[in-house]
Amino acid sequence: MAGGVVVSASGGKEYPGKMTLFVFLTCFVASSGGLIFGYDLGISGGVTSMDSFLLKFFPSVYHKEKEDVSTNQYCKFDSELLTLFTSSLYLAALVASFCAATVTRVFGRKWSMFGGGITFLVGAVINGAAESVFMLILGRILLGIGVGFANQSVPLYLSEMAPPKLRGMLNIGFQLMITIGILAANLINYATAKIAGGWGWRVSLGLAAVPAVVIALGALLLPDTPNSLIERGHAEQARSMLSKIRGTDDVQEEYDDLVAASEESKTIKHPWKNILEKKYRPALTMAILIPFFQQLTGINVIMFYAPVLFKTIGFEDDAALMSAVITGLVNMFATFVSIATVDRVGRRALFLQGGTQMLICQIVVGTLIGFQFGTSGVGANLSRGYASCVVLFICVYVAGFAWSWGPLGWLVPSEIFPLEIRSAGQSINVSVNMFFTFIIGQAFLTLLCRLKFGLFYFFGGWVLVMTIFIGLFLPETKNVPIEEMVLAWKKHWFWGKFISDDDIHVGKKTSTFGA
Ligand code: BGC
Repeated sequence: MAGGVVVSASGGKEYPGKMTLFVFLTCFVASSGGLIFGYDLGISGGVTSMDSFLLKFFPSVYHKEKEDVSTNQYCKFDSELLTLFTSSLYLAALVASFCAATVTRVFGRKWSMFGGGITFLVGAVINGAAESVFMLILGRILLGIGVGFANQSVPLYLSEMAPPKLRGMLNIGFQLMITIGILAANLINYATAKIAGGWGWRVSLGLAAVPAVVIALGALLLPDTPNSLIERGHAEQARSMLSKIRGTDDVQEEYDDLVAASEESKTIKHPWKNILEKKYRPALTMAILIPFFQQLTGINVIMFYAPVLFKTIGFEDDAALMSAVITGLVNMFATFVSIATVDRVGRRALFLQGGTQMLICQIVVGTLIGFQFGTSGVGANLSRGYASCVVLFICVYVAGFAWSWGPLGWLVPSEIFPLEIRSAGQSINVSVNMFFTFIIGQAFLTLLCRLKFGLFYFFGGWVLVMTIFIGLFLPETKNVPIEEMVLAWKKHWFWGKFISDDDIHVGKKTSTFGA
């Protein structure tokens, strides 16, 4: 047997394996799945603030906006149909991620990515050509199905391909692509809003076809992960794939762990039923609470509604879109901080630091807006300096999210489930995420109207709760091999009692986890 396995400082096994060009390229291509999600998150806010778009599909919102110049700043753009347009996608993604669980497990990760890309492509075409609200919403539902498949499969793919020591970094490629998608969408909106003929929104919506083609073609080129190959009975292929991605033949130990995980997985016939077993409780709890908390940071208030929000606090149309571009840039660049640090300082440190930073900013932004508009919402537009200050703190808040809850909200749930229920677990993660993205999308305008500046305190309160939760309940998962995660739970002060000794089938003698 190969002798390259050592015990790491954190107590887990370290497999031989380095960053090979092959693993980098496969992860790079797979990450592009994040583009479709990001493009989508970024495009609707700008489109729904374009006059030509509102006039064509939502004339009542348009007229209300034009006539009501003197009404309450907090309650300007409230239209249920308009928010339904934005958030219909997330409901579709929620349902689709459950179907994707089966495709991902039975046919492999790559076919889910491919299916996601193709469905998204059709949705983009329908949206670009839309003549009615029906076509708009139908297009968005197809986009949502695409996102459901991609978000279910891409994070799993990345976490399985990556060597444990680089898993955080490679997985965060997905979040990086999300932020690039959002930024691209913001820039495109900025340009298309200026198109005189009033058809700029068609370009914005139709260009979603580009990232769709990228991921669909990319998925065709990708190999499947060794974990999935073994799970589907292709042991030999899995072995050579493992050597190829690790850049060494010294993969026996890791291969043995994959086989052990796969054998365990064969005993599970109904992942959806088994996931309720006690030993999976820690991972299940995280797969529900992490995406829930991620959305309760309030990030999508900024992502969807930045132009609307900036308009509300007194920016002109153009300045509002420009500010959205600024937050988009901050979001993207700050993601690199997590790429560079996640496998060194670990997941917990980023969560705790990022959470604290977001909390402080939320209190400051809420207070600044409260001072200006009070509870009546009627007040002069913000002065330039005051408004820049609000934008600055919003940017620092976005940066905190971009190196903590943003990437880790996708990384952590994708790396904590054992193989037999990984696909089901990831669907839960995606669907909870989409459900609360939907709720926030749907409720934001009403919440802003009711809670006023207190909306920022509301999300700040949640950030406090989630930061304490992470501090107490999330074990560190950096460098822990994905098929050995059970050992990290076993060692945890609270979750340890959920894992009996019989539940541990990996980790052999070389590991000191759980000793
Ligand atoms: C979240 C999205 C959010 C985005 C912002 C993602 O991780 O899931 O809801 O809009 O980050 O970058």
